[in-house]
Amino acid sequence: MVDVILGLQWGDEGKGKIVDYFAPRYDIIARFQGGPNAGHTLYVEGKKMVLHQIPSGIFHQNTVNVIGNGVVLDPVTLKRECDAVSAFGIDVKKNLFISERTNIIVPTHRALDKASELSKGDSKIGSTLKGIGPAYMDKTGRNALRVGDLLHKNFTSQYIKLRLKHQKLLDNFHFIEDISAWEEEFFEALEFLKTLNVVNCEYFINNQISAGKKVLAEGAQGSMLDIDFGTFPFVTSSNTISAGVCTGLGVSPKQINEVMGVTKAYCTRVGGGPFPTELEDATGEELRKIGSEFGATTGRPRRCGWIDLVALKYACMLNGVTQVIMTKADVLDAFDELKVCTAYSINGKETREVPFQMSGIKIDPVLEAFKGWNLDTTQIREASVLPATMKTYIDFINNYIGAPVTYVSNGPGRDQIVHI
Ligand code: GDP
Ligand code: IMO
Ligand code: MG
Repeated sequence: MVDVILGLQWGDEGKGKIVDYFAPRYDIIARFQGGPNAGHTLYVEGKKMVLHQIPSGIFHQNTVNVIGNGVVLDPVTLKRECDAVSAFGIDVKKNLFISERTNIIVPTHRALDKASELSKGDSKIGSTLKGIGPAYMDKTGRNALRVGDLLHKNFTSQYIKLRLKHQKLLDNFHFIEDISAWEEEFFEALEFLKTLNVVNCEYFINNQISAGKKVLAEGAQGSMLDIDFGTFPFVTSSNTISAGVCTGLGVSPKQINEVMGVTKAYCTRVGGGPFPTELEDATGEELRKIGSEFGATTGRPRRCGWIDLVALKYACMLNGVTQVIMTKADVLDAFDELKVCTAYSINGKETREVPFQMSGIKIDPVLEAFKGWNLDTTQIREASVLPATMKTYIDFINNYIGAPVTYVSNGPGRDQIVHI
């Protein structure tokens, strides 16, 4: 049985905190897509930790953490993260398993990411520059190096062949960067990677499922960044939706049980691309300030706006969401009035559907106003004491998207969550 936790917006919904909260109920936590573009924040023993490659169950001693085949893996980031996690007394050699089919991000992928973004000028994606796009291109282009290749003698010659190919592409971009320092770190990190548990992940996970173990698949990014269904081309390069769990771990669709979608009580986006409910005013600034909306991976300020129910309902449909977890409700504590987007107005016509093309056109959000609760909710742990105005806000969202909000998160801490 596999349950899923994934993002329903443009990423940074608080997936890390929620996975960490649910982890004790599962035997295995598995990342199925994305790479070090992800930044999942958790608080462990009061200390802030941001995970990019390792699943968010790693701080639970009895939980197995898996990096699946659908992930792109930067060995340098992984090594750094393993060192940081080990400082908490976690034995990554016992608790972490990596698929031999996981694709490796090489230093030239990062250089290519930079070169490609530079060449796009004003229409750049706003990539995290971690080499994600080029790494997935090498996967679909059937050129990639995979973790299992490390155990073969000709890995270095395969690497050199790939680097030469990348060099030609970089030359075409007229992009020059000295990657020798990166390469040195990269090869050191590969030696470390070889000491970890590299497994045939599809058999590993399916055997565990057959033995009655419970798996939680952890998504990265968000549904609106999905390569097929997101705001293309302002998306990431993997399938972030629940369908990605099957291809990213090697489990059948029949194994998928609960799909828990995480959404903020409002909305953010980092990087370029359409964002119909964006607030480029004092209210947006306040959301950013109160919500500390700065990227966990790049530190960039996140763009902020009201919750977009058109996009949220679309994401629920694509993922087969069975429950919604609403995070950062406490960020709205200080607002007198809240707004939600119930439709898009495009060229004077209203629609409740996400259109094919969202960039390059003007989308005006149709907004409905709600009374704020003006109350510090961060200490609340019981649904019965949540303010009535918050319940009205949540009920409206429930009804619109057709999926129940089952948890409200009211602070970054592990215990700051209310089951409703
Ligand atoms: P992820 O990528 O989906 O895991 O989310 P990030 O870690 O990038 O961003 C979420 C941010 O919000 C982190 O700084 C979390 O510590 C914080 N956070 C998560 N849940 C809550 C919440 O309910 N309230 C507040 N105030 N912060 C939260
Ligand atoms: P988590 O898992 C928010 C955004 C980037 C950029 C676009 C493409 O923490 O929610 P990429 O580096 O993938 O080529 O960038 O996607 N992006 C994210 N935004 N949270 C993330 O991950 C993201 N990962 C990528 O900002 O706009
Ligand atoms: Mg994040």
